[in-house]
Amino acid sequence: MCGIVGYIGPKEKKKILLDGLQELEYRGYDSAGIAIIEGERLNNFKAIGKLSNLREKTKEYHSEGFGVSIGHTRWATHGKPTELNAHPHLGKYSYVVHNGIIENYQELKKELLSEGVNFLSQTDTETIVHLFEKYNNVISDPFKAFEKTIERLEGAYATLLITEAAPDTIFFAKNGSPMLIGFDEEEVYFASSDTPIIGKATEVYYLEDGEYGYVKEGKVHLFNANGEKLFTKQPLKADKTSAQKEGYRFFMEKEIYEQSYVMIETMMGRVLDENIILDELDKDFLDGINAIKICACGTSYHSALTAAYLFERLAKIRCDVEIASEFRYKEPLLGQDTLFITISQSGETADTLEALKMAKRAGLKSLSICNVDNSSIVRESDAAILTRAGIEKGVASTKAFATQTMVLWMLALYVGQEKATIAPEVLKTEIDAMRHTPKALTVTDELHAKLHRLSKRYLHGHGFFFIGRDIFFPLALEGALKLKEISYLHAEGYPAGEMKHGPIALADAELFTIALMPKTMHYEKIKSNVEELSARDATICAISPEPFDLADDFIQTQYCTHPMIEFFEMMVVTQLLALEISIRLGNDVDMPRNLAKSVTVE
Ligand code: F6R
Repeated sequence: MCGIVGYIGPKEKKKILLDGLQELEYRGYDSAGIAIIEGERLNNFKAIGKLSNLREKTKEYHSEGFGVSIGHTRWATHGKPTELNAHPHLGKYSYVVHNGIIENYQELKKELLSEGVNFLSQTDTETIVHLFEKYNNVISDPFKAFEKTIERLEGAYATLLITEAAPDTIFFAKNGSPMLIGFDEEEVYFASSDTPIIGKATEVYYLEDGEYGYVKEGKVHLFNANGEKLFTKQPLKADKTSAQKEGYRFFMEKEIYEQSYVMIETMMGRVLDENIILDELDKDFLDGINAIKICACGTSYHSALTAAYLFERLAKIRCDVEIASEFRYKEPLLGQDTLFITISQSGETADTLEALKMAKRAGLKSLSICNVDNSSIVRESDAAILTRAGIEKGVASTKAFATQTMVLWMLALYVGQEKATIAPEVLKTEIDAMRHTPKALTVTDELHAKLHRLSKRYLHGHGFFFIGRDIFFPLALEGALKLKEISYLHAEGYPAGEMKHGPIALADAELFTIALMPKTMHYEKIKSNVEELSARDATICAISPEPFDLADDFIQTQYCTHPMIEFFEMMVVTQLLALEISIRLGNDVDMPRNLAKSVTVE
C-alpha cells in the first residue's frame, strides 16, 4: 500500500525513481510524485492517476548531476487522490514521502496550524515535513530536527525526507511499514520492497521498526532507541525476470499460467515419496501443540479456511481461523498449547502483523506462511515456511493462494506425521495426490478458449453466487472475491447447503450461480442444492467432471481422483472466468480500482 523509492548518487535520478515506482505501482496507483535536489536545483513533479501520467509530465526533465531524490506512488488513505494530496509533500524547503498512517496527525496539525503553518493537502503526511521545519528553524540541525520529528509521530510509517538545509542527505525512518536500504558501492537506494532495486543494488539492509537515520556521502548512519547502531548488509539475491509479463496481457494472466510450475517449486525437497520434510521447523517445533489458530486477510484468509478442514480431517488437530482485523480487537482467549499461524502473500499486511504480535505477547508459538522472505511477518515469526510462488504482481492474488493452500496441505500432513495421527496409507494417498496437482493446474488452450467464449454471457445480471461444500466453500468465497475485485460485479460465496436459509430468495434468471460440483466430495448433496436453485430459475454454470443436465453452462473438469486435485483444477477455472469477464468489461485487470497489493495500513 503506497510505494516509496529513494536514491542518492550521481546517476539520472528521474529514471531510477520512475522505474522503481513502476515496480511498486501495484501497491497504489491513485497518484505519484518525485522530488530531486541537485546542488542548488530543486525539482518536484506530481501527477494524479497512473505513473504514465508522471512520466509524461517529466519527459523534458533530466537529473544527471550528483543529488538526492525521493519518489512515491500513492494509495489514498487521508485525503482524496488529487495532485495536492500526492507525495512528496512540501514544506518551505523540504520534501517528504511516507507510507503508513500517522495516527496522531490531527493533534499535530492543530498544533502547527496554531503556530501559523499553512497546509496544502488533507494528508496526515504533510505534518511530518512541517514538524521537521519547525524544529530545524529553531535548532538549525537537520538530523536533530528529524529525530525530534520522529519522536512525535504515532502510528505506522516508512518515510524519507530531503531538505535544502542538507542538500546531500536523505533522512529515513521506519516503524510498522516496510522499507529497505540498497547499496551499490557509493550509491544508496531506498524502497518499500526489493523489486525496485533488483539489478541496481548488490546488497541490502531491511530496516527494523524503530530504526531511523540519514545517508550522506554513500554512508548510512543508522539509529534506534539505544543510539547509533552497527548493521550488517546482506547480498540481494532476487530474480527480476520472474516479474516481467512475458507476452501475457496481464500479470494476473501470467500468474495463473505459472501456477502449475510454482507448485512444483513449492513442493521441491519437501514432498518425498512417503513423508513430508519441512526443514524450516525444528524437530521439537510441535511439542506441546494441541491446537492451531490461523489469522489472515482476504485471499490468504480463504486459504486458511481451506486448511482448517485439512488440519482437522488429516492431522486430527483442532484448528480455527479468524480474520486478522477481527481477531485484533476481540480480546481472544489464547491457550499456550496453540500454534499461531499467519498467512500472508506480502508479509506486510498490517492487521495480520498486529495479530501475530498479539499472539506473541500472549506467549504463543508462531509460524508464518508467506511469499516474501525477510518481510515483517516472516521476521516477527518463530518460524516461517515460504510459499515460493515468485513475485506476484497482479493485485488479485492467484498463485500466492495456490501455493499457500499447498503449503497448508503439506503442513497438515506434516503435523499428522509428526504426531502420528495420520495412518501411513492415508499419508501416502495424500502425497500421491499432491504430486498430481501441477497437472491439474495446467491451463489448456481449450479451457481458456471456452472460458473466453462463455464470459460474454456473464457481463450483466444482478449478481453471482459461487457455491460449494466443505473445502469447496472457501474456494467459492475465493472465486467470488476474484470476480468482484477485477470485474466490479457483485458476487458472493456461500456454502451450498446454506442457500435455502435465506440467499435462495434472490434466485432468478439474472442471478448467475457458479456451482463447484466435485465428484470426490459430497457430489449428491451439492447436486440437490443446485437443483433447488435451478428450480427457481437461477442461471447455473456448473463446474464438474460429471455432466449435469440442469446446467445452463457446463465446464467439464478433467481430474476426479482426489478432492484437492479437483479443488486446484476448479480454482483455475474460477480465476480464468474472472479474468475473461474483467477483460471483456475493459477493466485494468492488474490494477483494479480502489485496491492495493499490500495493505500496510489498518
Ligand atoms: C485478493 C488479495 C487480498 C489479499 C489480502 C491479504 O486478491 O490479494 O485479499 O489476500 O489483502 O494480503 P496478504 O496475503 O499479502 O497478507
